[in-house]
Amino acid sequence: MIILGIETSCDETAASVVDGRGNKVKILSNVVSSQIEIHKKYGGVVPEVAAREHVLNILPVINEALKDVKKIDAIAVTVGPGLVTSLLVGVETAKTLAYALGKPVVGLNHIEGHIYANFINNQPKFPSLILTVSGGHTMLILMTKHGKYKVLGETLDDAAGEAFDKAAQLLGLGYPGGPAVAARAAKFKMASKKSITTLPRPMINSGDFNFSFSGLKTALLYAIQRDKNWRKKIPEYAFEFEQAVAEVLVHKTIKAALKYNCQNIMLSGGVAANVVLRHQLEKAVKDKLVKAKLIIPEFKYCTDNAAMIATAGYFRARAKKFTAWQKLKTDSNLELK
Ligand code: KG4
Ligand code: ZN
Repeated sequence: MIILGIETSCDETAASVVDGRGNKVKILSNVVSSQIEIHKKYGGVVPEVAAREHVLNILPVINEALKDVKKIDAIAVTVGPGLVTSLLVGVETAKTLAYALGKPVVGLNHIEGHIYANFINNQPKFPSLILTVSGGHTMLILMTKHGKYKVLGETLDDAAGEAFDKAAQLLGLGYPGGPAVAARAAKFKMASKKSITTLPRPMINSGDFNFSFSGLKTALLYAIQRDKNWRKKIPEYAFEFEQAVAEVLVHKTIKAALKYNCQNIMLSGGVAANVVLRHQLEKAVKDKLVKAKLIIPEFKYCTDNAAMIATAGYFRARAKKFTAWQKLKTDSNLELK
């Protein structure tokens, strides 16, 4: 089954074609047009600007993704959560294509897409635990079969990626913050200095699977306000901040995996590109979970892309979970069900 995936929930215009057979998918094309350079000067994504860029880019991106493809069987598109004006561009384009080509459509949750990035080169077993960490979400999700999820915990305030972005702003590192903080932190580690700054590990012993990162950002703000020389110690603050986020995420993931006896642990979302988080989780899974296997998507499938949407779309299409194009609607607060 050949699926065209379309993703426009935030600031990447993306299209991809996958060929699904049985439990496997083959990526035939994966095109992403990023708006990062445009939003950089504003220090974050400006919804109106993002929507206009999607309108300009969506057809060239889809055209490029379909370049060597002879036919498609279905169209998968992100319907939420995300910026409504961005989502509308992808959804209306998918509807138009479905109408014109007479193909069925699958409306997808963006988080489900991030989860399925793990199914691109792997065949996870159930129950699986997924740590989803992006600019908008921090969730621990139990997946018991294809399309069946239970949210075990989530952030009570800022998402992990948002926390990285805000920390970067405080440290004067620009947007997007995650890669900028990670690069400075790596510098500090390379110099193999010992951090003398300490930041809290929020809710690490809360006994549940929820998270909170807004206090961590405030703790960083107070720490640099107290420190006249903070500008000379940016790599150290970046290092400590990254450690604090990674430690809390890893600790709760391992606890949940033990409790629910998970066979696979998966990482998804933009923050999954963070090398420290990947390494710490790898080590913890090896040390503390005897039977479970960790799956981490390739870098290019961690941040927003349409290959993950087309892959999730394939598994839904296989189960005949289509939506009539007339009924396809955006939902900026769509919950994972
Ligand atoms: O999944 P994504 O591309 O978009 C959303 O759905 O939000 O995630 C973007 C987020 C941003 O907050 C960005 O700062 C963060 O992922 N991010 C990182 C890294 N690369 C991207 N955070 C930490 N370390 C990274 N290397
Ligand atoms: Zn995302």
